[in-house]
Amino acid sequence: MVELEDLPNVGEKTAQKLREAGFADTMRLATTTAKELSVKAEIGEGVAEKVIEAARKTEQIDFETAFDVMERRRNVGRITSGSTALNELIGGGIETQAITEVFGEFGSGKSQIAHELAVTVQLPIEKGGLDGECVFIDTENTFRPERIKQILDSFELDEEEVLQKIHIARAYNSSHQILMADKVNELIQSGTNIRLVIVDSLTAHFRAEYVGRESLASRQQKLNQHLHTLQNIANTYNIAVFVTNQVQARPDAFFGSPTKAIGGHVLGHAATYRIWLKKGLAGKRIARLVDSPHLPEGECVFKIVTEGITD
Ligand code: GTP
Ligand code: MG
Repeated sequence: MVELEDLPNVGEKTAQKLREAGFADTMRLATTTAKELSVKAEIGEGVAEKVIEAARKTEQIDFETAFDVMERRRNVGRITSGSTALNELIGGGIETQAITEVFGEFGSGKSQIAHELAVTVQLPIEKGGLDGECVFIDTENTFRPERIKQILDSFELDEEEVLQKIHIARAYNSSHQILMADKVNELIQSGTNIRLVIVDSLTAHFRAEYVGRESLASRQQKLNQHLHTLQNIANTYNIAVFVTNQVQARPDAFFGSPTKAIGGHVLGHAATYRIWLKKGLAGKRIARLVDSPHLPEGECVFKIVTEGITD
């Protein structure tokens, strides 16, 4: 492995700055932009450009063939949602190297799925997990360890061990949320086996802080930056990213859905899988896959029970 100090233009001091800013390996450097690097690591943009170029050379960032892409996709891991029907809808479970978004009205089950995944990611691979730990960025203060305890009861997992492997970040505003996502890199580099990053809710702070049409552009720009960080984590470390999103009423809709997801095109393009949740009768929930690169659109039904998510 190439150390930061081995790169041209990087002395001991710069290496330290880079590490402190969360750029601890050449892959992380190779996939950033000069602007981002110079701001975060407080180095000149010219130096940043050179460092990135050198990192890209060592990581051999170049065109790859479809065969290479297929090889990389062989490493994609999947986490069970608890419901076989829901897993099938999305191609076998929540994927690594991708961002999966669920959106829907209040009480539709977004946070419940998030809690379920925080447990199931810890299962061994043959049971639908990734034998890993998770980060839970909680923006609405709705994470409940009590709920985790109820969910883990149906699996043969040790209560304390499960709770120890869920790393909670309570985010108080959108800047804090962005910062916590950046810090995930540090947690991974310190040797924690993170396989899932949850952001519940991705958009609530952004929606509350940027009100009115005039702030829409800056909101979308910030959200885009945040999603870029998350996508980077997903790709660089083969991690699954799961985000939740609210809907807004669309009073002008005569046809189709009277609601739509927040985040607009920025989120629409960044999320690899988008799942729309609706409330049904008697605790049932309907999930609709609305966007996926290789799966057909479709619907399924699942249930929320005391033990978590089920068919
Ligand atoms: P917002 O965050 O408000 O937008 O909604 P959400 O989509 O995150 O809703 P959430 O996932 O928190 O779903 C809440 C619903 O899950 C409740 O209304 C219940 O129907 C169901 N639920 C939560 N806990 C339990 C439980 O222990 N047992 C059962 N049977 N249902 C539960
Ligand atoms: Mg919620």
